[in-house]
Parts: sequence; structure tokens; C-alpha cells
Amino acid sequence: MATITSTTTLQDSDLTLEVFDIPSSRVVHGKAFPLGLHPKDGAVPGDINSAVRYLENIAKTGAFRSLLSQHGAILFRGLPIKNAQDFSKFVTAFQLPQPHREVGLAGKRTTVTTNIKTANEEPPDVKFYYHSEYGRSAYFPGVLFFFSEIVPEQGGQTPLLSSLELYDRLAADLPEFLKDLSEKGGNDSYGFEIKDGDSLEVQREKVETVLRDTLQAKAEWQPNGSLHVLQHLPAIRRIGSTGKPTFFNGFAGVYGRGRDNNALEPPYRGIDEKYHLPTTYGDGTAIPVEYQERLLEISDEIGFLTPWQPGDVALIDNYTVQHARTPWKGDRSLLVSLWDGHEKFVPL
Ligand SMILES: [Fe+2]
Repeated sequence: MATITSTTTLQDSDLTLEVFDIPSSRVVHGKAFPLGLHPKDGAVPGDINSAVRYLENIAKTGAFRSLLSQHGAILFRGLPIKNAQDFSKFVTAFQLPQPHREVGLAGKRTTVTTNIKTANEEPPDVKFYYHSEYGRSAYFPGVLFFFSEIVPEQGGQTPLLSSLELYDRLAADLPEFLKDLSEKGGNDSYGFEIKDGDSLEVQREKVETVLRDTLQAKAEWQPNGSLHVLQHLPAIRRIGSTGKPTFFNGFAGVYGRGRDNNALEPPYRGIDEKYHLPTTYGDGTAIPVEYQERLLEISDEIGFLTPWQPGDVALIDNYTVQHARTPWKGDRSLLVSLWDGHEKFVPL
């Protein structure tokens, strides 16, 4: 049976995880962000199955749940995780309530093995701005795992920031923006891509069912067969376990992508020939560009670039941490696993 011997050491009978320093990690609300954990004295478990048994025992004590709530992100290093199959075993060790069922459009992903997908298959030169995963939807995962299978020659360090720290910085630097967001919420629109296979009627029926039952969203079919979904959501939330306010949304991503594609003005059609409909306040008024620019600046100021090594896994609380993507050169494989966790939002 696993025991916790101190705040920084997790052990069971045959091996121990201990905290290690991650260069350029941050301190948020007195806690390392992210927390680094690796096997003590380099005592790496011989195979993934024994590592998983160890982690399961730790998970049963609630220690990971508690550490995740305190730190927001944990970087595991030095465990024998070599491929998607190992990663698939690793994620089950945490005994989270259930794998998250994705609804709506996050990006191009391919399922690799049980509960494991590619992170995103857009070209390596495309930058993603900070966002909460499915932060533009009413239905989102609570916990994310990223597994660094192949590290590219250059770039590709996953940026992470604490959404709690972002809230604090916005409260200090842009109080009007935060006030408007708290009072009005945000309107976000996004599209479902219609694919071949089912008849159009069947596709529409499936999408409408999901929208009605899962997302509680408004939707309009477009003449070209695509669908615009309008979702009115709060942009500031309160974390159930800690009572802290968090910046939970996808604003920066929508604005940054629109800006990069020269699509900030009507009709919002970008140089990538896609539409980049802007996020507005919940009452339909525009969010001033200067606020959005400052949001991107602050996000970069408080961001942390995950210095991936092969075999690393980052465990991320989607409620309190936003992630992004930096471009890279060379071969890279980053896999993800999305789960429903124990955290919840409570009224502000
Ligand atoms: Fe994402």
C-alpha cells in the first residue's frame, strides 16, 4: 500500500517518486508550476506494468488528485513510457472517472489506441494560442495528459500557463476587461465540419441531437451545408475544490488565429480561406482589440514552455491551466488522452 512520507515524496515498497526542479518553472499561489516528479535516485521501474501498479497505489490515496489541484500541472519524467501502448496503460493508473467523449470540433486528431489520440495534425508551422481545452464549449474534459513520444530537433515545447495566475494578472492590469467579461460572459461561434459517409439528413440529425442534449447551443445551418454554432458561456469561472476564480475560455486562440489570418474585419474570411468569426461579449458587443492584444502579451509573460524529453508525460488540470502550441522543425510525436476528472465549477 502506498504511503505519502512527506509533501514532496510519494513512495511504496519498491520505488519512490520525488520532486525535481524544472528549470524556468514558475511559482503560482506558492506552488511550483508545473510540479516535476521523477523516480528517486534514478530507480526506474523495470517495465510499464510495475510502474502502473505503483502509480495506482498512489492514486488510490488521492495524492495525485490533491497535487493536481494544488499545482495545476505535473510533469512526469523518467518512467518507462516508450510508446502509445505504454501511455495508454499509464493514463489508466490515475483511476479518473472516465475517458472524455469529445463532442464538437477541437482539431484534426487520429485515434492511436484506447483513449489515446494524436494531439493535432495541423502543419508544424501553425501556432496555437493559449486556450482551455474545449473552452469554447459547455462540454469539456477535466484532465489532459500529453505524452512526448518524439521530440523535434527544434521548437515544439508545449506552452502552459496557470489560468489562476492569468485571472490575477488581468485583475491587476485590465480590470475593466475582467469586469465586462464577468458581467456579460462571451459568445463564441464555431463550425462542425460535415464529412462524407452518412447521408446529409443523418449527419444533420446526429449533430442536432448533440447540440440539443450536450451543448445547449444555438445552431444555424449554412447554405454550403456547414453549421455555425453559437454558444453563450461565462468566461470567468470559480473552481469548486479551491474557490479560486479562473480564466476559462478560448478567447486568445480565436483572436490570435483571426489576427494571423488577416481576418479581424468583416466578413472575417482569412488568408487560409476559412472564416474566423470573432468572440464577442455575451451581449453581442465587440471585445476591444487592445484588450485582446494585452491578453496575448500577458499570456506570453506568464507562460511556461514544457522542455520535452522523450517519455515525458504532462498531467494537466484543464480547469486551472491553459495550453498552446509552438511551431517546430523535424519529427515530432505528441499524443493526448482526455478524461473527465473530479473538479467542477461553482457559481461565481
Ligand atoms: Fe488544445
